Amino acid sequence: MQKYTVTAALIYANGPIHIGHLAGCYIPADIYVRYLRSTGADVAFISGTDEHGVPITVKARLEGKTPQQVVDFYYEQIKKAFADLGISFDIYSRTSNPAHHQLSQEIFSTMYDKGFFDEETNEQYYDEVAQQFLADRYIVGECPSCGNPNAYGDQCERCGSTLSPTELKNPHSTLSGSKPVMKPTKNWYLPLDRMQPDIEKYVNSHKEWKTNVLGQCQSWLKDGLRPRAMTRDLDWGVKVPLPDTDGKVLYVWFDAPIGYITFTKEWADQNGKNWEDYWKNKDTKLVHFIGKDNIVFHCIIFPAMLMAEGSYILADNVPANEFMNLEGNKISTSKNWAVWLHEYLEEFPDKQDELRYVLSANAPETKDSEFTWKDYQTRVNSELVGVFGNFVNRVLVLTHKNFNGVVPAKDTLREIDTKVLEELSGFPKVIGGAISNYKFREALNLVMDLARLGNKYLADTEPWKESDPIRVGTIMNVAIQISASLAIVSEPFLPFTAAKIFEMLNLDPQTWESAGRVDMIVAGHKLNPAQLLFTKIEDSVVEKQVQRLLEIKKMNELEAKKREDEIKEVPELKASIQYDDFAKLDIRVGTILEAEKVAKSDKLLKFLIDDGIEKRTILSGIAKYFKPEEMIGKQVTFLANLAPRKMMGVESNGMILMAEDRDGSLALLQPHKAVWNGGPVS
Ligand code: MF3
Ligand code: ZN
Repeated sequence: MQKYTVTAALIYANGPIHIGHLAGCYIPADIYVRYLRSTGADVAFISGTDEHGVPITVKARLEGKTPQQVVDFYYEQIKKAFADLGISFDIYSRTSNPAHHQLSQEIFSTMYDKGFFDEETNEQYYDEVAQQFLADRYIVGECPSCGNPNAYGDQCERCGSTLSPTELKNPHSTLSGSKPVMKPTKNWYLPLDRMQPDIEKYVNSHKEWKTNVLGQCQSWLKDGLRPRAMTRDLDWGVKVPLPDTDGKVLYVWFDAPIGYITFTKEWADQNGKNWEDYWKNKDTKLVHFIGKDNIVFHCIIFPAMLMAEGSYILADNVPANEFMNLEGNKISTSKNWAVWLHEYLEEFPDKQDELRYVLSANAPETKDSEFTWKDYQTRVNSELVGVFGNFVNRVLVLTHKNFNGVVPAKDTLREIDTKVLEELSGFPKVIGGAISNYKFREALNLVMDLARLGNKYLADTEPWKESDPIRVGTIMNVAIQISASLAIVSEPFLPFTAAKIFEMLNLDPQTWESAGRVDMIVAGHKLNPAQLLFTKIEDSVVEKQVQRLLEIKKMNELEAKKREDEIKEVPELKASIQYDDFAKLDIRVGTILEAEKVAKSDKLLKFLIDDGIEKRTILSGIAKYFKPEEMIGKQVTFLANLAPRKMMGVESNGMILMAEDRDGSLALLQPHKAVWNGGPVS
């Protein structure tokens, strides 16, 4: 029996699951595995949470919790959400398990003993107050490209530049706020440069990988691989199994993929299996499902580690998906721009398959795709309710109505019947073929084609108009066979729905081999009552979701504006002056009598001001911020002894004083109570 080890990325336990994760990785993986199981293959479907690394410690600091508290919370939340959506992992474990620490250390030690690591000492930022080396994310400073004073050591979130900590101006530690110092530290590097020929050979032996995956690999290989540190100065993670390495842990991307192995062991031990069958047998197929941001780790770094260790099989395929966007924008956890799985399930507790369907039909298989609530509604209403549900429902209802729920016998088959049965028997093979080739959208389309075929058959034969009960029986028998096959081939995609169909058909779940059979259900078999498979999504339901997103968008825009404002710094003080310098300025109060735009100028306003002595004309370049009519009658302060200046042919005698706000807008400087015109300001 063909063995498969199928893994789905170990997501960081620092936030909830969203539809992007599902469409990119977990739903395709589950479809693939459910199909394989249905064909009788021996599959281990492995996943869990990645509980180490800087992302976890950053989240913990943000929430004022310990890293352990963070991962404990999200592990449970994520595990439950996956289970509720019917993602059928054989095990969902966590990298904080002692067994995982142990195996990661063992593999590191094996590689170390084989002399695989290059020891290298280099200078890194160190926080003397917090007494620790600083991961890139823990250093902020001014971005060399755009001047953002809050750029991180690895990236500027304002302009998007990739940075290294030493490029930041004015760096400081986010742990203590202090200025970090450079200090030497020793780490162990995987010499990917020397391993490049072997890695190239491996990647090039898999021309069948998806183009997006091969593309990324080739671009890394073309740039030339560089040694990569497999240890880090951090206190959260798997301890480095070498003497005198306090305060150092294994790089999170070293230990995390080893989690696939640890969890397989854990599962095998619990189920009386031999884990080595799934990791050390050359005939076993290892398949990693991931999102596109994980490609290099699964196609280059992890295989390199396993090659170095020497006793494991390498991935047969890494069907990575691109990203799914949401309502026109990139999904973002920090911006709360997402549909969260646990929230979806709370709101739609019996609509798991609806979500699975929409995310599969629209999966970002070859390029980024987009989720919109409108599309969700349309697909559910017209495809699931209108096509799939409608067909199965009619079959069940008509059989109950005409035959009291007992499957009628087939009599003489007409051409239309034999044709439909022949088409039916062709479906499982093409659907299975598409799934085997990771073409899940295409496969789902074919499943829907089978439902469409069923609908067309009913529409063409019109059993509800047929007066001969024997003929009606034949039609219903054929339609029931189609329904049974539909349950089998839709199960990888819509497991809850398939279970309901089997229940209605009073049939134990069947394997893929039975799909397409024209006599799966025999005459005389008693069916269970009909139940609705899907219900329509009302406009109001979708509007509520869109409304929620609009509010989030509004909040994000406000936040962004606030941050931009903070970025503008208060200008530095000018050189100091003596009182005499100030006394030279003759500043006075006056009242605006008239105000108008200056012809042909979009900046200038012309004011006539009562200065207590006469009516004086002052021009001011503030038309962008004030309407002339609003200014009339206002008291203002103005510089009275500024030498006259001509602008646009008009002479200006003075300057109205303004305060400038962060966004460049202007405010008048007015006396806080009315004073006499001409009153001096000092
Ligand atoms: N934690 C990583 C992420 O969320 C994925 C790790 S996959 C692993 O992007 F297998 F390597 F763990
Ligand atoms: Zn920048």
